[in-house]
Amino acid sequence: MILAFDPCSEYRRHQHEIDSAIARVLNSGQVILGPEGACFEEEFAAYVGARYGVGVKSGTDALIVALRALGIGADDEVLTVANTAVPTVAAIRATGAIPRFVDVDPVTLLMDADHLQAAISSQTRCVVAVHLYGNPLDMQQIKAIAAPRGVPIVADCAQAHGAQFGGRHVGPDADIGCYSFYPTKNLGGFGDAGLCTTDDARLAAQMRRIRMYGFDGDRVAQCEGLCSRLDELQAAMLRVKLRHLDKVLLVRRRLAERYTHSLSESDFVLPATTPGGRHAYHQYVVRTSQRTTLMEELQRAQIGYGIHYPVPVHLMPAYAWLGYRPGDLPVTERAAEEVLSLPLHVGLSENEIRDVASVLRGAVQAVT
Ligand SMILES: Cc1ncc(COP(=O)(O)O)c(C=O)c1O
Repeated sequence: MILAFDPCSEYRRHQHEIDSAIARVLNSGQVILGPEGACFEEEFAAYVGARYGVGVKSGTDALIVALRALGIGADDEVLTVANTAVPTVAAIRATGAIPRFVDVDPVTLLMDADHLQAAISSQTRCVVAVHLYGNPLDMQQIKAIAAPRGVPIVADCAQAHGAQFGGRHVGPDADIGCYSFYPTKNLGGFGDAGLCTTDDARLAAQMRRIRMYGFDGDRVAQCEGLCSRLDELQAAMLRVKLRHLDKVLLVRRRLAERYTHSLSESDFVLPATTPGGRHAYHQYVVRTSQRTTLMEELQRAQIGYGIHYPVPVHLMPAYAWLGYRPGDLPVTERAAEEVLSLPLHVGLSENEIRDVASVLRGAVQAVT
């Protein structure tokens, strides 16, 4: 059996450090907004090269807090992609704003700058750009379109811890970078957690207010806020895992290279890295017109897999009221029919990668 994700492997690897981090918090008596959270904010911001980090309760909340700090609210138009996890869009809606979708590039499956250029208008209040699968988007291209109009950019980096563009981590290249530490992520907690990064002191202060009822340290709401704090236990465990993140990324990239090597002679479309970027391989996503057959073979061989994502957000029932129809975003819609995420986590061996690749190659040969 090969798992798509193994939640225990990293815990087992760093059990002693994680157990003592938990004990440290429990013995301190400070479980919300204490020193662990403050240190993690500083350490994570330093890791990605941002001036400020603001811990929140989840990646979804990071997006909501970021958008609200930028003043995005009811009926504001926010441009984003439909080839993403639902929370990107759910977060936009949680502010009352209206998401409008632009299609993705057929090679990278990330926001297509030409489509963004065509869609942006005087109505647009924000762009939420997604570094999907750990592949970095070229933010300079996005900025060149948004900045002259004064439109801020929020980067959804939920899948992109460790992804780099032009030698720098993604996140700080947007007005606000939003991270999720959901357990499956490259840097995953043991529960929900999230964080926003920014270089702007004013935005950082506003995000700190919003995450805690709008307080400014005075129990008086200065703005309408939420309850979205990063708790000390998650922060303490994430501090341990952050120290090992570079090793995790090394393993993920090595395993991804192994897939690429083993599948290079096949008919699959293998994941592309944006030119100038360094992929963090949160997912290793191949594209194939024979997905159903492959899924059956993987199930038979007891190999886990994922589909990210089977239905693009603009065609989900929850968002039907936005008025999109099949055919509106052709590249996104085709991707939804073809993408298949292969198992990729630090608990996997190179032999297991070879086994997965050989099951896939065998399944394709049987069909052709
Ligand atoms: C692209 C993307 N955005 C946002 C999120 C939301 O993160 P969370 O699950 O921590 O709320 C996720 C996580 O699934 C994601 O993959």
